[in-house]
Amino acid sequence: MYITFSILCRMCNSKLMRFSLRHKSRTTKTSLWLEQAYIGGEWLDATSGATFEVRNPANMQVIGCVPDMTVVEAQKALEVATKAFYVPEWKLITARERSQLLKNWHILISQHCAELANIITAECGKPLTESLSEVDYGQSFVEWFAEEARRIDGQLIASSMSNQEVLVLREPLGVAALITLWNFPMALVLRKAAAAMAAGCTVVVKPDEDTPLSCLALAKLSQMACIPAGVFNVITTNTAPPIGDLFCRSPLVCGISFTGSTEVGKYLFRESAGLLKRVSLELGGNAPFIVFESADIAEAVKGAMLSKFRNSGQTCVSANRFYVQSAVYEDFLKQLQAQVEALKIGPGYNKGVQIGPLINLAQLKRIETIMKDARSRHAKVICGGKRLQDIGELFYAPTIITDVDRTARIYREEIFGPVITLTKFDTEDEVVTRANSSLRGLSGYFYSQNLQEVFRVARRLEVGIVGVNVGLASQAEAPFGGIKESGIGREGGHYGIDEFTEIKYICLGGLKYD
Ligand code: SIN
Repeated sequence: MYITFSILCRMCNSKLMRFSLRHKSRTTKTSLWLEQAYIGGEWLDATSGATFEVRNPANMQVIGCVPDMTVVEAQKALEVATKAFYVPEWKLITARERSQLLKNWHILISQHCAELANIITAECGKPLTESLSEVDYGQSFVEWFAEEARRIDGQLIASSMSNQEVLVLREPLGVAALITLWNFPMALVLRKAAAAMAAGCTVVVKPDEDTPLSCLALAKLSQMACIPAGVFNVITTNTAPPIGDLFCRSPLVCGISFTGSTEVGKYLFRESAGLLKRVSLELGGNAPFIVFESADIAEAVKGAMLSKFRNSGQTCVSANRFYVQSAVYEDFLKQLQAQVEALKIGPGYNKGVQIGPLINLAQLKRIETIMKDARSRHAKVICGGKRLQDIGELFYAPTIITDVDRTARIYREEIFGPVITLTKFDTEDEVVTRANSSLRGLSGYFYSQNLQEVFRVARRLEVGIVGVNVGLASQAEAPFGGIKESGIGREGGHYGIDEFTEIKYICLGGLKYD
């Protein structure tokens, strides 16, 4: 039975409301809370018996223990996924059947949204309402690619030979290795896996060591959805590099899709070159957020808050460098500061919380280091600018800084935290040049009510995703990805499937038409 999305959303929201009333600040272990890896349809421990701890970043308490797997188990997962690709031929079951299985998964994810949101908040720390949005966002990719699975069409091209036909097919790559980050522990897995599986690939997922539980919950739902054993596999590990190397060097892996840092992305790209693998990379950004004087300032402030503080600024598409035209600078800053200072900070389970903790100590220390560097270059702190240890070890105050030097690390690097750098500008040329001065080109945003300016600037920004009068552009229907050092390939939209398919040309000759 197919339930429409809006009904599912209503079900999700009311479930979440009931759920959050019952569970104020505790981690609840439901049937989707699994602490074993999932390979070939079986729930497994590491061969060595080794495990590693998963912590709640809001209070650093251990909330689970999962297998610390090595290349031994990763190799097994690749073999199992290879077998499932050929026998019982996931690649050859009909597109309609694949689509139906993905729809089953989509429905189950939607039906379990409250439990899934609870797991995300437990291990990633984001506010429960944001976790629910993430589940909703994630399941929208499964729904989208379930629909796309039936439209992976080829072509019949007019041949220049009278007795021939040119046929073009799109075939699945084979086994895809998916490596995901902690900031969207469900949505990133689903955006990659649903596209790969719709194309007919089987997958081995290596979730981030900070957030493996979300991915394991998805594995359980894939099992309940009757997705055949070996099609969706999850290996958990606290030692990612050797497994990344295996993915790059093993002939069993036909494609790698990675979300994470530019440095690691480049490494995987280099290492995969030996076997000329298909590699898709979603890497860091350094998004400009421009407010022109023609903008609706209240709307621009709203967009800025959304773009910057979603997941405490820990998203690749978060606005990093804010530029505001001189005539509206003071007004924008005043409205922005009022909203930033009003943000409610705390553990993600607490009612009304908008800002959770940072993911780990390394991330917090990085923010402190780049803030120190900015201060040493005379940046002015308008608000925030400090840790909030009375709430918890990993909380950092939402911050606005101005007078940021162009050489400051906080200006040049992706912040990945709740800090806004604000700069005044005068002309469009000046701001576009500054916006494009970064080597990262994932996303960029601007607010303007001037139609000429809208089209001009949208075309001039050197990024893969432009948000015009919006602070968040991500959606399943649209291609997500960057240019320059922000990555290769696209996820989502019609293009998401391309990363997991090969083109095959068949020249059909000897035809007698006369
Ligand atoms: C990311 O930060 O990696 C993903 C953000 C999004 O999909 O909006």
